[in-house]
Amino acid sequence: MSKVDVLLGLQWGDEGKGKAVDFLAPKYNIVARFQGGPNAGHTLEFDGKKHVLHQIPSGIFHPEILNVIGNGVVIDPIVFAREIRDLEPFGVDASKTLILSNKAQLIIPTHKLIDKALELSKGEEKIGSTLRGIGPTYQDKIGRHGLRIGDIIHKDFDVKYQKLKKQHLSLLSTLELDDDFHQQEQEFFKSLDLMRKFKIQSTEYLINESLKSGKDILAEGAQGTLLDIDFGSYPFVTSSNTTTAGACTGLGIAPNQINEVFGIFKAYCTRVGSGPFPTELFNQEGEDLRRLGNEFGATTGRPRRCGWLDIPALNYACMLNGVTQLFMMKADVLSDVTPVKICESYNSSNGIIKEFPYIWDDTFSPIFREVPSWKLNGVPAYSDLPDNLHSFIHSIEQSVGVPIHLISLGPDRNETVLKKS
Ligand code: GDP
Ligand code: IMO
Ligand code: MG
Repeated sequence: MSKVDVLLGLQWGDEGKGKAVDFLAPKYNIVARFQGGPNAGHTLEFDGKKHVLHQIPSGIFHPEILNVIGNGVVIDPIVFAREIRDLEPFGVDASKTLILSNKAQLIIPTHKLIDKALELSKGEEKIGSTLRGIGPTYQDKIGRHGLRIGDIIHKDFDVKYQKLKKQHLSLLSTLELDDDFHQQEQEFFKSLDLMRKFKIQSTEYLINESLKSGKDILAEGAQGTLLDIDFGSYPFVTSSNTTTAGACTGLGIAPNQINEVFGIFKAYCTRVGSGPFPTELFNQEGEDLRRLGNEFGATTGRPRRCGWLDIPALNYACMLNGVTQLFMMKADVLSDVTPVKICESYNSSNGIIKEFPYIWDDTFSPIFREVPSWKLNGVPAYSDLPDNLHSFIHSIEQSVGVPIHLISLGPDRNETVLKKS
């Protein structure tokens, strides 16, 4: 039976999705991105080299696999062209193995200006957006006047582009255009020429026909469940559905085609940008996690906020996504960190709660349990992991009710331990 498995983040993004997708990719015929855009930064490491992908699916280094950018994604051609160029020195000819949905939305240079202007107008309340034009592009999609990738190969594209740009400029009329706007626009049009060389098609047919002919598909999420537009800590969220449901709408897959849902989380938590973070550490422990985990954004380089593992949040994410298997990343970072803490519930004015609250404010505080740390030596087989790490794994499995099948002990493809081979 062919199937669609979904791999997605259960926290605030940057859980290690890129590494995990690259590791699993050889089991699949197609890897497909279903939402988000260049706000994502997915890191892959192998053969001593590190690669960061923003819009291109993380299966791209496997020449036998087809990679699809689905209709739910928003694409910036400038970032796209740079990513394609960055792949070339590694012998990756993406034009052979990458297909774009004609229904994915196009990010144009003015979307980025609007993103910046909106963020500036929020002052202290700013979201901490990556300023890649994500929100304004999804706004235009929902407002039903966005441009789609399919439009770039139509003769009236320039007219449509000018119309949308004019609309944006009237919104921005009180602002000066950035000095480099005209240069950005030139690069945009040059990048569109490169994009036109790729196959642009109704990828929902490709996906469903591939399934019929027995092919297996891995859907790659971007961001994380707690940044979901509906269920994240609104308004400090991204502008798409980062949950399993997003894989259905973002690729054109019927819900009953979804098989496994791989939920990926760090052994602790991080968040980049503003918004509530119940287990955040403001002390030396937080600094240590940032340093040991090298917690700096793959897209913007911003330092990530760090905190302990949050079980109520993890439970919430598993519930929303129907997670069938958990992947725990960065267990190596907690090696030698003493003590390790886990938040199992929150204190609130109504007593102890285990639900992720609608709004997190001063009336809540996390309740932590200390657990002993572990000392790692290399990448052992699952059965040879340190006892304290086994206990940590079992206690999470018990709290969440979902088995942990993969444990990641380093950024490299090979630093990965499977419970069952
Ligand atoms: P993504 O957005 O979910 O793909 O995650 P990012 O690439 O933004 O951030 C994850 C970071 O952790 C990257 O720098 C990875 O190379 C790194 N990483 C992934 N797994 C592990 C792991 O198990 N241990 C360590 N130390 N680093 C990891
Ligand atoms: P990956 O796929 C971590 C965060 C931003 C900001 C909020 C809204 O690498 O896990 P946006 O640019 O969407 O307007 O930003 O969401 N954010 C991410 N944080 N990882 C990501 O992607 C993110 N994509 C967006 O920092 O707080
Ligand atoms: Mg990332």
